[in-house]
Amino acid sequence: MLELKNISFKRDNKIILNNINLTLDDDKFYCITGPNGSGKSTLAKIIMGLIIPDSGSIIYNGIDITNLTVDERAKLGLGFAFQNPVTFKGLTVYDLLKIATGSEVGKKEACDILSKVGLCAKEYIDRELNNSLSGGELKRIEIASVIARCPSVSIFDEPEAGIDLWSFKYLTEIFKEIGLKKNGTTIVISHQERILSIADAIILLEAGQIKEAGNKDTMLNNILASDCLKGGTHE
Ligand SMILES: Nc1ncnc2c1ncn2[C@@H]1O[C@H](COP(=O)(O)OP(=O)(O)OP(=O)(O)O)[C@@H](O)[C@H]1O
Ligand SMILES: [Mg+2]
Repeated sequence: MLELKNISFKRDNKIILNNINLTLDDDKFYCITGPNGSGKSTLAKIIMGLIIPDSGSIIYNGIDITNLTVDERAKLGLGFAFQNPVTFKGLTVYDLLKIATGSEVGKKEACDILSKVGLCAKEYIDRELNNSLSGGELKRIEIASVIARCPSVSIFDEPEAGIDLWSFKYLTEIFKEIGLKKNGTTIVISHQERILSIADAIILLEAGQIKEAGNKDTMLNNILASDCLKGGTHE
């Protein structure tokens, strides 16, 4: 169980997160949504330890992880896919998947994971992680690395960004599969109705605060009624 208690974060006199309280259960699929700039990515970075909050605490399975480093959190089982994927000079896709799993993963297994995110494994496994890969390809590789790691808490920040409309439906299936497996807490930050509709619960952030949170059906009805989603299409 992951608990966020009274989390606040301010930068340049701007309140970015204001007293966030959340309890995220094991084996549940959560979607965090909300307008641009509402603090979603900041909250994800705080959970991962990329940013330390000004006040409040994060408790993971009873352990206070508020001041732990990213590496220490990763060892406890937290994994993260960035909104804008990172590239590493000299590192191949296969290297990344090996690092992600923390073990000597075979090429066949690595190829299976790449196929899951819709990449032709043969073409990509030995490619270097650099700008020669398209935005959508990098995004898929990043998602593959989280799937490979299989963390107890996985956080995906706008996995739909940069993924074409045709592949988007396929991507939703991957998340559905992750959700169905129920082998940990999954948190997906998304603006897409298709992804929101496969969650167990939805958290709506607005101006750094939780405006509403609850089970998917009620939340999705309220959100759709307020007309603030991008619909089922991809942008
Ligand atoms: N280090 C920082 N210094 C100043 N402002 C920041 C900093 N980090 C984030 N912000 C601001 O905090 C607000 C929340 O940013 P955040 O990236 O968390 O939004 P978001 O909900 O993920 O938005 P989007 O949907 O566009 O991805 C934004 O207004 C952003 O400009
Ligand atoms: Mg964001």
